[in-house]
Amino acid sequence: MAINNSLGGTDQAQRLRNLVLQCEHAADAGRHAHVIAVCSGKGGVGKTLISVNLSIALAARGHRVALIDMDLGLANADIVLGVEPTCTWSEALSGKRPVTDCIIQAPGDIAFIPGASGVARIANLSEFERHQLLALMERIEQRYDVVVLDCGAGISQNVMALAASADTVLVVATPEPTSITDAYAMVKTFSRMEREGYTGKPAGTGHPGSPASGLGIIVNYADTRREGQETFERLAGTAARFLHIPVSDYGCILRDDHVPAAIRQRRPVVLRYPRCPASSCIMASAIKLSSELGRPGSSQGLFYRVMRMFV
Ligand SMILES: Nc1ncnc2c1ncn2[C@@H]1O[C@H](COP(=O)(O)OP(=O)(O)OP(=O)(O)O)[C@@H](O)[C@H]1O
Ligand SMILES: [Mg+2]
Repeated sequence: MAINNSLGGTDQAQRLRNLVLQCEHAADAGRHAHVIAVCSGKGGVGKTLISVNLSIALAARGHRVALIDMDLGLANADIVLGVEPTCTWSEALSGKRPVTDCIIQAPGDIAFIPGASGVARIANLSEFERHQLLALMERIEQRYDVVVLDCGAGISQNVMALAASADTVLVVATPEPTSITDAYAMVKTFSRMEREGYTGKPAGTGHPGSPASGLGIIVNYADTRREGQETFERLAGTAARFLHIPVSDYGCILRDDHVPAAIRQRRPVVLRYPRCPASSCIMASAIKLSSELGRPGSSQGLFYRVMRMFV
């Protein structure tokens, strides 16, 4: 996939390359968290709902989870989570606050890093901001087993860099034809990145990336489990036939009025209504994910994995 290098100047690009190379050399030092990127082609399909509640469900299963709001356009995981952040990662990046200030303890025993409206492009971060981002990510990876990234909608450069950095990419789709088409476009883009070594360069010429362990689909807004299953099968069947890639089934989430009710109360649905249909579905998806978290993840840190897309 051709990701444009849109950095301001040659010097800045070279400094970024050097920084990423340093991280690459330090790659094998220490353990790295399992990164789950929650993405979608179409907007408004339930990424934030799933990111927040899946994080809590994974924490309930004993994992140390950090949720990062990476929706650079409309960061709103704080609302679904029911917290009022006093520091976002954009403030930490600018150096106005220490990076530790933006890691907050959130309901459900997870760490939450609130979103950063105003950071338009990861590629355009200044050198100082990148160092801050590196410090933040290193800290998160040292302390947590699982990092969940709530990404923005669509196949922008930022989103695809985050997807490429993840061990597991969860594409959220709904049974609506427009959502299925957009989810397929995302799977297709991702499969192209995979063929090209996830670096935006032809395979073999880029940095040796550690391939993400899995691409999976969660179907949200299903009226019945059968509808959810059929939606998954349509998407996975088309991906197998035309793209020759396997796509895992992470289950479906039923359309459920408890979801908007919990959001209105500013409480995560799995905590407010743990036995409602949507919560049961999210728990089931968490069980499947949880069983995969023991697998060895990437040997490279998250910062390196995100940034390598831009050099
Ligand atoms: N299973 C569900 N049942 C009922 N309502 C739902 C369900 N899932 C999501 N919703 C509703 O859909 C709305 C959008 O969900 P959410 O914000 O999670 O989508 P998103 O994909 O993160 O959107 P964006 O692309 O804007 O980031 C929420 O306000 C929520 O109330
Ligand atoms: Mg969202």
